[in-house]
Amino acid sequence: MILQIIAVTAGLGLVIAVLGLTVLWLLRGRSIGVMLAVVAVVTVAATLAGVVAITMEMIIDGHPKDVVLTVVAIAGLVGIGVALVVARQVVAASRKLVTAVEEVPATLDFTPPQGPLPAELRTIAHALDQAYARLRAARQREQALEGARRELVAWVSHDLRTPLAGMRAMVEALEDGVVDDTATVSRYHNQIRLEVDRLAHMVDDLFELSRIHAGALRLSPRRVGLGDLVADALAGVEALAMAKGVRLTGDTPPVLPVYADAAELGRALRNLVVNAIRHTPQDGAVVVRATADDATVRLSVADACGGIPEDDLPRVFDVAFRGEAARTPGPDRGAGLGLAIARGIVEAHEGAIAVVNEGPGCRFEISLPRAASPA
Ligand SMILES: Nc1ncnc2c1ncn2[C@@H]1O[C@H](COP(=O)(O)OP(=O)(O)OP(=O)(O)O)[C@@H](O)[C@H]1O
Ligand SMILES: [Mg+2]
Repeated sequence: MILQIIAVTAGLGLVIAVLGLTVLWLLRGRSIGVMLAVVAVVTVAATLAGVVAITMEMIIDGHPKDVVLTVVAIAGLVGIGVALVVARQVVAASRKLVTAVEEVPATLDFTPPQGPLPAELRTIAHALDQAYARLRAARQREQALEGARRELVAWVSHDLRTPLAGMRAMVEALEDGVVDDTATVSRYHNQIRLEVDRLAHMVDDLFELSRIHAGALRLSPRRVGLGDLVADALAGVEALAMAKGVRLTGDTPPVLPVYADAAELGRALRNLVVNAIRHTPQDGAVVVRATADDATVRLSVADACGGIPEDDLPRVFDVAFRGEAARTPGPDRGAGLGLAIARGIVEAHEGAIAVVNEGPGCRFEISLPRAASPA
């Protein structure tokens, strides 16, 4: 009797288990939740099938308790069997994922595991893939920065050592009385003075840049009129423009308030204007213009430099980047810090800085959000 019940229930259970496993195989890429639902359905279906078959056979007579227990026990076993298969599938899939992560090479190239994965693990694999891509990008930036820093240290030591050696020689000559004619003495003094100014300026730039990089740039934003800011920057470089024979003009509305640190923003603007004058030939023009719409104020510096080579355009704001002319020794030799400082200051103001080639030269533009004035 009981044997007959076991045989019927087990047979039906087997058929349902095979059906369930087939469904699971078809759904192997779906959610783990769906798989668990299939396990539950298989268990319930096996129980029901056993009960229905036995009732139809009318074999329940004197031992209803035994019969029910047997059917439930066998159906339960079928359910556990299918659950084990599901568990193995999930474990194997997650192990594949772990192996894929463990095998990520030093280059951080992540290869997601082949073959179908349950939906949740597929999502994790996708997220991992994106995380590794971000890591790769971050490392690349880090390496580029590290390279720039190394280059910076190299030329800083060179650029400091060369003028220092020259000054030392001149001071020694003065000290020993090797030169005593007034013209040469005064030329030496003048030369030493120029070099000291240049070195002081460079050290100051380096200090500013290191504060920017350390995130230690303390802004004291106030409401400032852009007209005044531009006028101050122009006044500071007028002598330079005159000496080079460059026409320097400002074009700003009389009142255009912006919420900014006047000293720092002025320094950024001055760096742009000095560059523009430096790269504009005699009789060329440099125009500083301020404009605004509802959301943004723009400060632009247009010059007649003849255009920056396309390849250099994305790099001009990098620390220590200097164009061909600025690398060759001479009075116009740059340190490659001006634009990096300008960018740091503008970004600290939550603004952006960009450059385009336009007309007879290029145009640098600072854009700042037109923040509400302080309460
Ligand atoms: N207005 C411009 N016209 C043409 N080229 C420019 C202009 N401004 C910058 N550049 C190019 O970008 C490079 C970087 O400029 P940046 O101001 O950072 O350094 P620099 O002027 O060489 O040195 P520093 O400003 O530290 O004295 C310059 O060497 C130059 O090649
Ligand atoms: Mg410069």
